[in-house]
Amino acid sequence: MTKVAIIGSGPCGLSMLRSFHQAEKKGDKIPEIICYEKQETWGGLWNYNWRTGTDQYGDTIHNSMYRYLWSNGPKECLEFADYSFDEHFKKPIPSFPPREVLRDYIIGRAEKSDIKKLVKFNTTVENVEVDGNGFKVSARDKKNNLLETVYFDYVIVANGHFSVPFVPEYEGMNNFPGRIMHSHDFRDAEEFRDKNVVILGSSYSAEDVSLQCFKYGAKTVTIGYRNNPMGFNWPKGMKEVHYLNKIDGNKAIFKDGTVQEMDVLILCSGYLHHFPFLEEELRLKTHNRLYPPKLYKGVVWENNQNLFYLGMQDQFHTFNMFDAQAWFVRDIIMKKIDLPNKDEISTDIKIWVDKEEALEDPYQMIDFQTDYCMDLCKDTDYPKIDFELIKKHFYDWEHDKESNILTYRDKSFSSPVTGTIGPSHHTSWLEAMDDSMETYLSTK
Ligand SMILES: Cc1cc2nc3c(=O)[nH]c(=O)nc-3n(C[C@H](O)[C@H](O)[C@H](O)COP(=O)(O)OP(=O)(O)OC[C@H]3O[C@@H](n4cnc5c(N)ncnc54)[C@H](O)[C@@H]3O)c2cc1C
Ligand SMILES: NC(=O)c1ccc[n+]([C@@H]2O[C@H](COP(=O)([O-])OP(=O)(O)OC[C@H]3O[C@@H](n4cnc5c(N)ncnc54)[C@H](OP(=O)(O)O)[C@@H]3O)[C@@H](O)[C@H]2O)c1
Repeated sequence: MTKVAIIGSGPCGLSMLRSFHQAEKKGDKIPEIICYEKQETWGGLWNYNWRTGTDQYGDTIHNSMYRYLWSNGPKECLEFADYSFDEHFKKPIPSFPPREVLRDYIIGRAEKSDIKKLVKFNTTVENVEVDGNGFKVSARDKKNNLLETVYFDYVIVANGHFSVPFVPEYEGMNNFPGRIMHSHDFRDAEEFRDKNVVILGSSYSAEDVSLQCFKYGAKTVTIGYRNNPMGFNWPKGMKEVHYLNKIDGNKAIFKDGTVQEMDVLILCSGYLHHFPFLEEELRLKTHNRLYPPKLYKGVVWENNQNLFYLGMQDQFHTFNMFDAQAWFVRDIIMKKIDLPNKDEISTDIKIWVDKEEALEDPYQMIDFQTDYCMDLCKDTDYPKIDFELIKKHFYDWEHDKESNILTYRDKSFSSPVTGTIGPSHHTSWLEAMDDSMETYLSTK
C-alpha cells in the first residue's frame, strides 16, 4: 500500500489530512498516512505557548503567536470552502477574530474529519533521506526518547516557515542594559507598559507588535525600517524612522539622525525557511516570497517529485490556499493529476517566478496569489469558492489600513462561502483588551 508522511499538523498539515478524508468519504481508497507533529496538540502556530526557547524535552519551541493576537486580515478571506464560519459558530461572527477563535475554527473542521488517529503527537521528524523511489523518515517520540525510522513513498513537508527567527546583529547590542528579543519570543505586550520600545522591521510583525505595545500602554514606540517604511498614520506616541545604525548604552541611534532612549529592542526581522531534517538535495532554499523557486505549482519539489511542500509562500491567502494546495497534492499522489515532463515543469516554474519578480505593489501581489489559488483549484474537486470576492476584500482591507491603522479591524466583510456579512464587534479593536473567545463571541 502507498505510504504518505506529513510533517506537521498546523493548518497545512490539517488541510492535507482533510483532503484525503474527503476523498475517502467519496469512496476512494486512500494511502496509509502518518502525520508527525512535534507539539502535544495540533493547530500549529495557532496554539499559544508560554514557553520560549526549548520545551521540556529540549526540542525548540515552534510557536510565534502571542496573547491578544487578532487576525490581521478579514476572516472571510481565509474561510474554508467546505466548512464555513457560520457552520462552525452557528451564528455570524465579526470579521477580525482573535487567535483563540480562529484556532477553534481550524480545529473544529479537523475534529469533524476523523483524522486525529493519523497524527503522532510529541513526535519530531529528525531526518528524511531518499531511499529508492521513496524516503526513509526518522522521527523521535519525545516522551520516550525513541527514534523510529519508517519507509514512505511520498513525503509532504508542512512544518511552516514562521518559527525559526532571523536575528540580525547591531553594534552595541552586547552592552545594551535592556532586553533584546525577536518577535518569535514576544508573548505579552503588557510587559512593556510604560517602557520605551524600539522595533525593527517593516512587515506584519513590526506593524502588529508595535501596535500591541502602543495599545497596552508603552511609553513610546519607535519603529526602524530597513528599506521601505510602512507609512501608516501612526498615532501620537508612535513613530517610524530609518534603520538602526548602532546602539550606544541605552540609546538607539538611527541612520536618519534620530536618537531614541530605549528599554527594550524587539527584532521583527522575519523568519528563516529551515529544514534541518531534510537532506541537502531535498531542501528548499528561499527567502519569504510569493513564489519560491523549484516548486512546481508552488508545491511539487522539482528535483524529486515524490516530495511536496505546503504553505511555503509569503501569504496573503492562507487557509483556503493551503486547502487548494493540499487537494492538488492529494490528486497527484492518487494519480488523478498527471505531472508534465521535466522541461514543462521548469518552464512553468519560470513563468510564475518571472511574473512574481515583476510585481510592483501589494495589489498586484494580491492578484498574483489569487490567480495562483484559482489555477490550483481548477484541476481538483475542492468546492468552488469566490476568489474574485476574496480579492476584492483584500483590496478593501489594504485601503482600510492605509486610511486608519487603528480601526481597520473594526470593518465588516461578506463571506465568499455563505454570503453572510460579519456583524460589527461589540467593542472596537483598540478598546478590546480581553481577547478570550467567550468575550469575543458574547453580544453586549
Ligand atoms: C505571529 C504570526 C501571526 C500570524 N497571524 C496570521 C493571521 O492573522 N491570519 C493568517 O491567516 N495567518 C497568520 N499567520 C500565518 C501562519 O503562518 C498561517 O496562518 C499558518 O499557521 C501556517 O500554517 P502551516 O501549517 O504552514 O505552519 P504552522 O502553523 O507553523 O504549523 C507547522 C506545524 O509543523 C510542526 N512541526 C515543525 N517542525 C516539525 C518537525 N520537525 N516534526 C514534526 N512536526 C513539526 C509544528 O509544531 C507545527 O504544528 C501568522 C503567523 C505568525 C508567525
Ligand atoms: N495576525 C497578526 O496580527 C500578525 C502579527 C504578526 C505577524 N503576522 C504574520 O506573520 C508572518 C511573518 O511576518 P513577519 O513580519 O514576521 O515577517 P516578514 O513578513 O517576512 O517580514 C520580515 C521583515 O523583517 C525586516 N528585516 C529583516 N532584516 C532586518 C534588519 N536587519 N533590520 C530591519 N528590518 C529587517 C524586513 O525588512 P525589508 O522589507 O527591509 O527586507 C521585513 O520587513 C506573516 O504571514 C504575517 O501575516 C500576523
